[in-house]
Amino acid sequence: MTSAKAILIEKFQDKSARVAVVGLGYVGLPLAMVFAEAGFEVIGLEIDHFKVSSINNGDSYIQDVPAEAVEKMVKAGRLWASSDFSILHTVDAVSVCVPTPLRKTGDPDLSFIVSACNSIAPYAHAGMVVVLESSTYPGTTRELVLPRLAGTNGLDVGEDIFIAFSPERVDPGRTDWTTRNTPKVVGGISENCSDVATAWYQQAINSVVRVSSAEVAEMAKLLENTFRMINIGLVNELAIMCDRLGMDVWEVIDAAATKPFGFMKFTPGPGLGGHCIPIDPLYLSWKMKAFNYNARFIELASEINTNMPRFAVSKIQDALNRVGRPMRGSHILVLGVAYKPDINDLRESPALDVIHLLTRKGVSVEYHDPYIPQFSHDNWQMESVPDLHQAVKAADAVVIITNHSAYDYPAIMNEARLIIDTRNALGACGGRHNAKVVRL
Ligand SMILES: NC(=O)c1ccc[n+]([C@@H]2O[C@H](COP(=O)([O-])OP(=O)(O)OC[C@H]3O[C@@H](n4cnc5c(N)ncnc54)[C@H](O)[C@@H]3O)[C@@H](O)[C@H]2O)c1
Repeated sequence: MTSAKAILIEKFQDKSARVAVVGLGYVGLPLAMVFAEAGFEVIGLEIDHFKVSSINNGDSYIQDVPAEAVEKMVKAGRLWASSDFSILHTVDAVSVCVPTPLRKTGDPDLSFIVSACNSIAPYAHAGMVVVLESSTYPGTTRELVLPRLAGTNGLDVGEDIFIAFSPERVDPGRTDWTTRNTPKVVGGISENCSDVATAWYQQAINSVVRVSSAEVAEMAKLLENTFRMINIGLVNELAIMCDRLGMDVWEVIDAAATKPFGFMKFTPGPGLGGHCIPIDPLYLSWKMKAFNYNARFIELASEINTNMPRFAVSKIQDALNRVGRPMRGSHILVLGVAYKPDINDLRESPALDVIHLLTRKGVSVEYHDPYIPQFSHDNWQMESVPDLHQAVKAADAVVIITNHSAYDYPAIMNEARLIIDTRNALGACGGRHNAKVVRL
């Protein structure tokens, strides 16, 4: 009798496999598109009805995924979305791309993974592969996903059903490295699981890097993000030290970056944002607590990064003092609220902390962001000012939080009365030597 593994691998190779992606967000929609464009029929399973109807109408709500591309796949019958998981009866391969945030207590919130697995479980069947893509601590796939999908229903993992982890590395807003051409790490619960998951992803992703276990794949993702978090923490502390020493941190970093080997350039800022870098390493430190181990680098970098909005606000206060303006009652325009340049994602953005801290100090705050026309957060709502130039001229100080490339920085420098530049956005246009510019 032909094994479930052999049948699945053949279905991947001839593209007759039916694929589902659970969670059509920043990660899931680009992944669904990559599978659809590779020739598979892809079903997006999503609890958000707006996203389901957008996809079925051939529309996109993710900046990196053009609506025309979605429309093309929908019209070709290779992509459609639903909230009804019973379709999984007929599906061969499932990728799970649901959120992994932190709880208010700072502990991992795995409820989305648990709920997605509970929705898949009634339809788990022999000849199915399930790959978890959500960033999480090592052990999640084996401890949380496996028991929900195999065992109790008589399915034998590695023989009937195949379970693996493959971290998502997509960097929203990036066009050179995308879901398709970024090498994809895959690690299964067993050798057979790795064989099947690798055979599937190889059909759609340019390069698949197979590792020996799901845990190695989970840990590799956390290493990547912890590496970034700690290096950002290091340059943020360097910025604080340079400030005390009266030195220009940007000049120091640029000088060090001329070394052709052994140095990688990271830049400071008003804090760490986004859905991944500030959060994922805390999944690892949480896991290590169960092993009675304190992940000191992670805790320290997190503490420094979390305090950066306060440091930015103290720089704003000093800058206003210097021109004889008390902070209370002043009027400040924040430029850029997205967590990084040229994207429309506000999650964990340090701009939120900076605006909140300024408001608490009696500052009247407005913002402008070409990518985020309005937002609501913790019971407050704001709208981007309609006329940027007018707002720049009217503000007592302009604070650059996110260095979107769409801004005309020489014009802003010309029109503003005082600028606090937390990203060195004005470095290239003479900000360093301009008396009304204060840099982080
Ligand atoms: N955004 C990034 O840049 C990025 C990069 C690499 C890895 N990741 C990781 O990928 C995972 C997903 O992140 P994201 O940014 O795509 O999140 P997201 O919030 O943009 O998307 C998640 C989607 O899952 C849906 N969802 C939640 N529970 C569901 C369920 N039970 N069934 C079906 N759909 C459900 C949500 O409605 C949402 O549309 C996270 O673990 C994140 O850490 C994100």
